[in-house]
Amino acid sequence: MKRTSYNKSQMKVVLLEGIHPNAKNMFEADGYTHVECYEKALPPEQLATVLKNARFIGIRSRTQLTEQILEAAPNLLAIGCFCIGTNQVDLEAAEKRGVPVFNAPFANTRSVAELVVAEMVMLMRGIPEKNAAAHRHQWLKSAANAYEVRGKTVAIIGYGHIGSQVGVLAEALGMRVRFFDIANKLALGNAVRCQSFEEAVNGAEIVTFHVPATPETRHMVNAETLAMMKPGVAIINASRGHVIDVAALVDALKSGHVRGAAIDVFPKEPTSNQEPFESPLCEFDNVLLTPHIGGSTQEAQANIGIEVAEKLIAYSNTGTTTGAVNFPQVGLPQQENAFRILHIHHNQPGVLSQINELFSKRDINIVGQYLQTSKHIGYVVTDIDRQSDESILHDLKAVPGTIRARILY
Ligand code: NAI
Repeated sequence: MKRTSYNKSQMKVVLLEGIHPNAKNMFEADGYTHVECYEKALPPEQLATVLKNARFIGIRSRTQLTEQILEAAPNLLAIGCFCIGTNQVDLEAAEKRGVPVFNAPFANTRSVAELVVAEMVMLMRGIPEKNAAAHRHQWLKSAANAYEVRGKTVAIIGYGHIGSQVGVLAEALGMRVRFFDIANKLALGNAVRCQSFEEAVNGAEIVTFHVPATPETRHMVNAETLAMMKPGVAIINASRGHVIDVAALVDALKSGHVRGAAIDVFPKEPTSNQEPFESPLCEFDNVLLTPHIGGSTQEAQANIGIEVAEKLIAYSNTGTTTGAVNFPQVGLPQQENAFRILHIHHNQPGVLSQINELFSKRDINIVGQYLQTSKHIGYVVTDIDRQSDESILHDLKAVPGTIRARILY
């Protein structure tokens, strides 16, 4: 382990909103022993106070890190969103302050895929409507319209992290897997890549959506695309609410063209568990409705705790920003026999040459240097051949355009 120029045990880490204890354990195991945990989000004034001398903050979806709050956190080095989304953080304000923001985009992939596979089985057997009837004391014992999934075809629209996992699991159940993706994706197992949406859905018994929210995916499921599908198709959407034109799905459910659906995401979702859920789909017994919990499992939370803490620790120890959502991406291992300095600056000409002049004036040799820029900022990691004193930090901070500079080791 390298000797660091800072004392990890004095670097305050604040973890809010009941973040999984894995995160605290990861920090402590790496020597960051000043970890403050809070079960809930904090009101803005208390948040500002707590953040005053914090070096890292971990949040989930309820904490809003606005420009004003970031202003009150001058010592903050990085932000960890222990969830998927990052729109609760003013990303540009963080970037301009030289603060990278990390999240865990794929820690719940498996959870979503498992739910989708279970829903395929439920829909092909007509379980949602049989279950609803049983709750009303009705006994629908019948094999009519109930099928095994073995040998059936599933069309996966969007073959990314989740879509490809769904494909692997579906194949293990003996299903035929087809997919359509706008990117050239490697087909896993016996999955068949289709050249068009229409080709993928043609004849499939189940169509499941795993695409991001883009203008192209808005209302991908509409009257026209539903008509391309086999009568009696089952539809699953655990991606984004706007992928389905709900009115068109309602018509197709009423006509029986769609045998049933499993929907986890909606164009308009309640913002809390106290708010009522409203959807035209509520009236259908053959639609399995879930409250956007595709990725919500204990395993996913545990994975998120590890993944985001790892990213924050890697940034703190080595300057690595791989996976940051608002920052130039630099991924570096620790270098033996070298000393590392980080410099974050406004993206303007001439900064790098001024930095290097400071090293050459001191007769310091650069053994490795990595510069990445984004629209607003430049991030340069420099490995030098000998440890320099704090005066270089003073000079680096004085280079015009500097946002912050830090000696790592
Ligand atoms: P990903 O980025 O790994 O995969 C998305 C795939 O969709 C990519 O391969 C991309 O090329 C493809 N794609 C984009 N536009 C397309 C189009 N017009 N037609 C066909 N393919 C297209 O994303 P990941 O992690 O698999 O997530 C998929 C979706 O699931 C996202 O919308 C995400 O927000 C959602 N999600 C939902 C959760 C839940 O709780 N229900 C939890 C996690 C993710």
